[in-house]
Amino acid sequence: MKNKKRRIFIFDTTLRDGEQCPGASLAPDEKVEIARQLERLGVDIIEAGFPAASSGEIEAIQKISKAVTKSTICALSRMLPKDIDAAREALQFAKRKRLHVFLATSKLHRDFKLKKGKKEILKLAVENIKYGKRFFNDIEFSPEDAARTERDFLAEAVRAGIDAGATTVNIPDTVGYALPEEFGDLIAFLIKESPELGKSVNLSVHCHNDLGLAVANSIAAVKQGANQVECTINGIGERAGNASLEEIVMALDTRCDLFGVSTRIQTEEIIKSSRLVSHLTGLVVQPNKAIVGRNAFAHESGIHQHGILKKRQTYEIIDPKRIGLSGSEMVMGKHSGRHAFRERLWKLGIRLKPTKLDQAFERFKQLADQKKYVFDADLEAIVEDEMRKVSETWQLKYLKITSETGTAPSAILRLQHEGKILKGSSKGDGPVDACYRAIEKMTGIKVRLAHYGIQSVSSGKDALGEVNLKLVIGDREVSGRGTSTDVIEASVKAFLFALNKASSYKTNKSKSLI
Ligand code: KIV
Ligand code: ZN
Repeated sequence: MKNKKRRIFIFDTTLRDGEQCPGASLAPDEKVEIARQLERLGVDIIEAGFPAASSGEIEAIQKISKAVTKSTICALSRMLPKDIDAAREALQFAKRKRLHVFLATSKLHRDFKLKKGKKEILKLAVENIKYGKRFFNDIEFSPEDAARTERDFLAEAVRAGIDAGATTVNIPDTVGYALPEEFGDLIAFLIKESPELGKSVNLSVHCHNDLGLAVANSIAAVKQGANQVECTINGIGERAGNASLEEIVMALDTRCDLFGVSTRIQTEEIIKSSRLVSHLTGLVVQPNKAIVGRNAFAHESGIHQHGILKKRQTYEIIDPKRIGLSGSEMVMGKHSGRHAFRERLWKLGIRLKPTKLDQAFERFKQLADQKKYVFDADLEAIVEDEMRKVSETWQLKYLKITSETGTAPSAILRLQHEGKILKGSSKGDGPVDACYRAIEKMTGIKVRLAHYGIQSVSSGKDALGEVNLKLVIGDREVSGRGTSTDVIEASVKAFLFALNKASSYKTNKSKSLI
């Protein structure tokens, strides 16, 4: 009989510890949008906020509680009855709810922050867990700065918390001080002292990333018997952040041969979750970030591209589809080889005879020497200049943007189409979004913007802005490029270029350029 995998609960604190990241504060509706995505991602517990912080925080947690039914909604509270009451108010509509109470136990925190002795700390913890127990079945207790707490006192605090009614004990490495072996050893020690940990009482870990070890420490703890991991999307959080959800989940998933554990995470929702959190918090994901960075599945070296095209596993340990990407990305540049060049053209629907392919590849190499990246639009231009003389089914005649601080920008456009001038307007999240919405309304063509990139093609104040984008129209990908000294106009040109190309494909069914 197959061994049953040990279940690891994923506790996401993007909306609480993650939001504590400088500059990341979220409006209540944005928190709800992220919470909905976390539910789709399959997160077991969503820590939605710290209700005692403000009435806005209570309102946001209430909205999340009404919108999310599958995940448990958790609220953080100090060991104070008034904080616990605020958590009660915030969680009153939650279908599944958890109270999370914390109190620092380390000597540094006891002496300098709390100015309380060990006995007083234990008394406060026990009294407040018991108070919370009057209203909540599900209570999590965190001895803050546990990783720097004397082991015997930590074990005593954990025991007291369990006896007072905590159903989960969370061991935070609050300042990211621990090393993996040491942290794993601490977890093993706590289980030895209180054997119900990881069984009838959940044993959680909460690691910060000050030494870049949050994920490694969390995994070391899982290995020793922890059955809940606290983490955030993209690893956002105080200072250097929290353990990153996507890295932990994909490490456990990819190396299941070593762990024999499972989570309920729908990994295909990872990239969407990452992009949503980045978009709403404004915290950009570093390009080389594991799992969700822009370059995590991008290959530029010719040798790597060749290997990947022969067998993906040569240079990739995770199938990009597993996290919700459409596939590996070949970044076309001076290191790309002929094989990758031909494959990329195939993806674009372009097939060339060998002699034509050689000529096109020569031109590609020349261009790649001048330009760091060669985009799809460049490839198409290289292969067939005719492709760029796409008939202008939709032509920009007029563009005006109105934008005032605090209001959504609006765009007014005039497009020429089949000899007529069409007028349209729309508001949007930004000026480019307003233009794209207006164009969609005017043309009646529904598109999904799969990629949008902007760069300057020369230097100085009057530099030309070049926009490269990719639209998905039905089941087809179309790229577009537009340049102008005005980046909004460049964005509109790129969008129309792609639409015009899509229209010309419709009339000219075969895209083969043999
Ligand atoms: O880092 C920490 O110690 C915390 C606790 C509140 C769990 O965030
Ligand atoms: Zn924390």
